[in-house]
Amino acid sequence: MNAKVPPKAPMARLDRLLANLGYGSRREVGGLVARRQVMLDGEVVKDVGAKIPIVADLPERMKISGKPVDPPAPLTLIMHKPLDVVCSHREAGRSVYELLPARWRARMPALSSIGRLDKDTTGLLLITDDGPFLHRVISPRANVAKRYVATLDRPLEGTEAEVFAAGTLMLEGETDPLAPAVLEPLGPKQARLTITEGRYHQVRRMFAAVGNHVTALHRDRIGGLDLPPDLEPGDWRILTGGEQASLFA
Ligand code: URA
Repeated sequence: MNAKVPPKAPMARLDRLLANLGYGSRREVGGLVARRQVMLDGEVVKDVGAKIPIVADLPERMKISGKPVDPPAPLTLIMHKPLDVVCSHREAGRSVYELLPARWRARMPALSSIGRLDKDTTGLLLITDDGPFLHRVISPRANVAKRYVATLDRPLEGTEAEVFAAGTLMLEGETDPLAPAVLEPLGPKQARLTITEGRYHQVRRMFAAVGNHVTALHRDRIGGLDLPPDLEPGDWRILTGGEQASLFA
C-alpha cells in the first residue's frame, strides 16, 4: 500500500476523512468499516483510525460499498448553470448545489461558487472547496475577466462601448466608478460584454445605466476558460488542472 503513496501526501484518519466527505458521522463511518464496506488498494480497511493518504487518485484506490470514494478536497467543478437555480446556500429556491450528489452538501470544507450568477443568468460557473483558489480568481488584483452575452430589450444606441470603456461609469447607489469594460455588439439587441469586477447585478445595472434592459444573460468565459460546448445546462464535471491554469492565462 505504501509504495503508491507520494512521500509528502497529507494523511487523514479514515473516519475523519469519510465524515468530511459527507459519508455520515464518524460513528456511522465506524459502522461502514465494521460491515467491511471500505476497501483501499483492494484490501478491506479494518481500523477506523487508519491513516489514509489524501491523494487525487483516491477514488481509483478506495471503494465504499463497492463504489469509488468521492474525490477529496481540494475539488473544483465547472458547471453550465441553468436558468432558475440560485447560487446561494441561503437564498430561497432550488440551488446549484442540488444539481450535485446529495452527499456533497455535507462536505467539509464546503463547496461554494466562485462569484455568483443571478437566478435568471445561465452559463459558466465554477464551484470549489479550495479557499485560496477562490480568492485568487475573485481578487481584484488577479484581474480575471468575465465575459457575458447580453440580450437586450431595446436596440443598442452605438455609444455604449465608449461609455463602458471610459472607466467613469457610476452605478446607482455606488461611490466608485466601474473599471473599464469591453462591449462588442453582436446584433441590434445583443452584445458581448467583458468585465473584470464582480459587483452585484453588475451587467444588468450597467445596461440600466445606459437606458436599456437585459432580457437574457449568459456567461461564456472566465479568464481564458470557455464554457465547453458539450456541457449542457445543468451539467457539471471536475475542472482539470489545465483548465484551472487557463483561468489566469
Ligand atoms: N451581472 C449580472 O447582472 N448578473 C449576473 O448574473 C452576472 C453578472
